[in-house]
Amino acid sequence: RFCPCATGRTQQYCTSAKNISIRDALTSLDTGSNIRIRGWVRSVRSQKNHLFLHVSDGSSLQPLQVIANSDLNIRGLTFGCAVDITGSLEKSPSQKQKVELQAQRVEVVGECDPVDFPFKIKERHSLEYIRQFPHLRCRTNSFGSLLRIRSEAAAAIHSYFRDNGFVQIHTPIITSNDCEGAGELFQVEVSQLSDKENPHFFSVPAYLTVSGQLHLEVMAGAFPAVYTFGPTFRAENSQSRRHLAEFYMAEAEISFIESLEDLMKVMEDLFKTSTEHLLSQCAEDMGLFHKFISPGQRWGCDLQTEHEKFLVKHCGNVPVFVTDYPYDLKPFYARDNQDQPRHTAAAVDLLVPGVGELCGGSLREERLELLKTRLARAGLEDTYAWYLQLRQFGSVPHGGFGMGFERYLQCVLGVKNIKDTIPFARSSRSCLL
Ligand code: 4AD
Repeated sequence: RFCPCATGRTQQYCTSAKNISIRDALTSLDTGSNIRIRGWVRSVRSQKNHLFLHVSDGSSLQPLQVIANSDLNIRGLTFGCAVDITGSLEKSPSQKQKVELQAQRVEVVGECDPVDFPFKIKERHSLEYIRQFPHLRCRTNSFGSLLRIRSEAAAAIHSYFRDNGFVQIHTPIITSNDCEGAGELFQVEVSQLSDKENPHFFSVPAYLTVSGQLHLEVMAGAFPAVYTFGPTFRAENSQSRRHLAEFYMAEAEISFIESLEDLMKVMEDLFKTSTEHLLSQCAEDMGLFHKFISPGQRWGCDLQTEHEKFLVKHCGNVPVFVTDYPYDLKPFYARDNQDQPRHTAAAVDLLVPGVGELCGGSLREERLELLKTRLARAGLEDTYAWYLQLRQFGSVPHGGFGMGFERYLQCVLGVKNIKDTIPFARSSRSCLL
């Protein structure tokens, strides 16, 4: 197949056609011939001697309008098919778009049977419906937008930490600790290990991490501020709309911290900076959610626990910090406020409308004797001998928090079910693909 550019080369080897993304085409001020785009057909309609196509390539919510002469005789052109198109980018006479592509060549790269394809042309499918097709849902407008926003949000979180002097630490996925002490661990085992003397691959029971906190605390002994942002796992037997078995968490740990307020400032700043970034960089995709998918739900209710619901409402449906929890409700690492008889821990949760708990954090117990007593009471002194050593050698007041990434997306997009914020959702009794 020869390229229509008149160089006499086949399309595969022709370098004269300029490949551009649809996002670049739509924002391009230059018009010109020999522009090549590749993507998937979102709609096809014929009018007189012309075919009008809308083509998307994942780079933007808005598709590019392509106009092809019916004479091109394109075989297999249907909604959902994959196409490779060369043509000239021209100013569009329509109000709906600035530019359109007048096609000289349209090749169907991969056909799509519109009868079997689960999504129908011009139909707005609900998030619940498209969730049934984890292998295909990225082809819908709504999930495409979600994935672009998610990618940008992850970049915004990394930027926030980098811009504020945090060092990124790659905390391990496999660990021998249960940081939260809640017993919600997935154990890691080799499927066939014949060594009866030592039944564990790692010699000790090992688990998928529930939090990178303890490893960040190690690093807080040498760095003023560290963070990690990766997958975490919880074997919570929950079918709720805000729990996943595998989710991403952004966690920070700050040394020489003086108060819970200092920690709350970082939590708030991270939330605001990332959200401002999304509103400016993903305005079109964010608009889709706020306009069609979750109108009026952005700061909605229906929280998981009645208490959280009450608190958020009571404070005017805005994010709320809850501090100083009863000491015995918090894990061993939380700092004792030593305020008998109330006996609270210097811990904080950030609750947000529509979701509930978004961040959990605390000052950590940096005092060796107090930590020793607490671990001994829980029978964990030996398990956490290394953790106690962190308090023996140059211990400093420190604290940190974790923000659930999918809950953050739920909150800023007003998405009801957390499963609609992650490319491949894993939860109790559900691991499709
Ligand atoms: O409150 P959590 O359990 O805190 C910790 O794990 C601390 N070790 C973090 C730290 O201080 N470094 O979890 C933190 C956040 C929660 O507020 C919530 O947003 C999210 O992680 N989260 C979940 N998100 C989705 N599915 C689940 N099953 C989640 N469990 C917690």
